[in-house]
Amino acid sequence: RQNERESLLIVLNFAKTFFQETLLKSDEGRGIGLSYFRERGFSNPTIEAFDLGYSFDQWDALMQEGTRKGYSRELLEKAGLIISKEAGKVFDRFRGRVMFPIHNVSGRVIAFGARILKTDKNQPKYLNSPETTVYHKSQVLYGIYQAKQTIRQEDICYLTEGYTDVISLHQAGIKNVVASSGTSLTTEQIRLIARFTPNVTILYDGDAAGIKAALRGLDMVLEEGLNLKLLLLPDGEDPDSYVHKVGAEAFKTYVKQHSQDFIDFKAGQWLAEAGDNPLKRAEGISDVCASITKIPDPLKRQTLSQRVAQVFHVNEQSVISEINRLLRKQQ
Ligand code: UTP
Ligand code: MN
Ligand code: MN
Ligand code: MN
Ligand code: MN
Repeated sequence: RQNERESLLIVLNFAKTFFQETLLKSDEGRGIGLSYFRERGFSNPTIEAFDLGYSFDQWDALMQEGTRKGYSRELLEKAGLIISKEAGKVFDRFRGRVMFPIHNVSGRVIAFGARILKTDKNQPKYLNSPETTVYHKSQVLYGIYQAKQTIRQEDICYLTEGYTDVISLHQAGIKNVVASSGTSLTTEQIRLIARFTPNVTILYDGDAAGIKAALRGLDMVLEEGLNLKLLLLPDGEDPDSYVHKVGAEAFKTYVKQHSQDFIDFKAGQWLAEAGDNPLKRAEGISDVCASITKIPDPLKRQTLSQRVAQVFHVNEQSVISEINRLLRKQQ
């Protein structure tokens, strides 16, 4: 078992290096992949820090180089690098894409995300490695290896949706950033953050999907006892696009000024929708109270009822009753 793990890590490292060399040294890689990263504003040190690469637009470039180096087809397949179809047809999983290696906490490459260069309705924008012996996507946070030291130093972790959000913020000097990479946030991912800091700020995309994902992740973060803030980016922006638009300093200021605790974040959503409708407001109060019941520490829960009362302009006792009602229901 241990042997298989190590063999997989070795072949994944080979693939990482092959994709890097393709990006930096081949005509196709430089002409297509590197120009793409340049257009996105990624500098050489950034490309290096994240081990970015490019996969040839050919059926089996990686497999040929891999077998030449002595890696078996079976191993390449177990690593998720090649796909074998019926009748012995075998081909590379990643072709003609820019490559984002996914590192574990100790910096070993365990998987890849791969972005298409031009939009094509018939193909997913990002292709990701399948689950393997070394890659369990629910347990992984993209960028954790590059971020962990700064997360500890700054005692806060920014949680984004995507690969390029992590990379662009890192390049802008905000290095304590990770991404859940498109999957909805899991408890394991939150516990991974908790190894380095109890403070999390969710920086999801400023669109309906991002807000929905933030609302889904919110309760899970509270359940793990972490201190949570959320930031709503301007409509249509994600951390990557916004930091390129306004620059590093303005981005940091924006984060400082617009980060909200979960009560304000949720209340903001509800009050915008409810207006004067008292039933909707009551629904909103109950929803915020439901999140409060997720917090394990009773003392923290208690201090929050007052905030809810203030935000929704109701008396604190009714908020406390609602929290207690929900707590009883959960038992
Ligand atoms: P987004 O659609 O927000 O992409 O998905 P992005 O990160 O902003 O990417 P760019 O800026 O267009 O390059 C957020 C994340 O969801 C995952 C990826 O991890 C992506 O970074 N995703 C998205 C997929 O896995 N597959 C997809 O087809 C799309
Ligand atoms: Mn494992
Ligand atoms: Mn999005
Ligand atoms: Mn995005
Ligand atoms: Mn983006």
